[in-house]
Amino acid sequence: MAKITLPGLIDMHVHLRDPGQTEKEDFYTGTSAALAGGFTKVFDMPNNLQPITHSSQLAEKIKSAKTKVVCDTGFYFGSLGNNIAEFEKIKDKVFGIKLYLNPTTGDYLINTQILEIVMKNWPRNKLILVHAEEDVIGQVMEMVRKFKRPVHVCHVSSENELKPILKAKDEGLPVTCGVTPHHLFLTEDDVKTLGPYGRMKPSLKSKKNQEFLWKNLKKINVVESDHAPHTKKEKEADPPLFGVPGLETTLPLLLSDKRVSTNEIIRLCYESPRKILGLPEEKNTKTIIDGNAKSEIKNSELLTKCGWSPFNGWKVRGKIQEVYIRGTRVFENRKILVKPGSGQVLVP
Ligand code: DOR
Ligand code: ZN
Repeated sequence: MAKITLPGLIDMHVHLRDPGQTEKEDFYTGTSAALAGGFTKVFDMPNNLQPITHSSQLAEKIKSAKTKVVCDTGFYFGSLGNNIAEFEKIKDKVFGIKLYLNPTTGDYLINTQILEIVMKNWPRNKLILVHAEEDVIGQVMEMVRKFKRPVHVCHVSSENELKPILKAKDEGLPVTCGVTPHHLFLTEDDVKTLGPYGRMKPSLKSKKNQEFLWKNLKKINVVESDHAPHTKKEKEADPPLFGVPGLETTLPLLLSDKRVSTNEIIRLCYESPRKILGLPEEKNTKTIIDGNAKSEIKNSELLTKCGWSPFNGWKVRGKIQEVYIRGTRVFENRKILVKPGSGQVLVP
């Protein structure tokens, strides 16, 4: 297996931090990291410093993205339940709405009563994505049973979280879910050596939970990086901020693991996110990999502005050589070949 050609991969869950926290990442560095990791489309979350809950904030974000992105970038809207009047105005500009039912980065928490309000008011055919952990997932599944509308559960991390989702899927409900590379490749034991660099939400779990995720990988729809850069200073602060970058390490990690075939990578990082988000196929958008090349993940070589990875020092297989978007070569040999703003802002 020398040269592998993959379709341009899709990461449906990233935090590019722009506008508001461009000391962590910005649209140029974040989308550069995406290309370096073999991703040609990324979907950015709304938990900016100022949460994206108003049409004017979304317009400002899209305007900034248009001048900076080097890969295709789509957006999600946010809600704390008090911006229902905005939904009509922005519905054609975003791929879904993201709701946080457990505390994490940003002042952005809602409860299940507010989830119900959003379920009733968010346009019927549009996706709802939830950050829900542990027992809250059962409550969200109850809501899916009631409203029967598409819900994507982000970053499942444990048996307790995955079980109610599998049950809902068995009932034929329109629920999908994603898993992150850090929950597949790290456990709570790694926190001992990684310290704050192993802290994220949901937290790393036990080996037994990790094995449950691997055992059920076929029933999980997507791998999503949850690329969540913070500066080293913020990670080493007390308390540290939650989140780890992932755009440049997701594909090498998957390529290096015998449990994941190339076809499985295509399903998890292209076909399923493409279907969930309703994206067309693009023949000339592709990622070319040297499947035999061995390398080491090194903080010093990353294009993400934060400059670190929890996988620093890991030996991996598969080198991302070239990336093409609609026939244009945009990345080769660790170099971005296009200008800021040459990527597209995607609309549904
Ligand atoms: O660890 C996390 N970091 N989990 C989240 O849900 C948010 C993210 C962030 O934005 O930093
Ligand atoms: Zn996230």
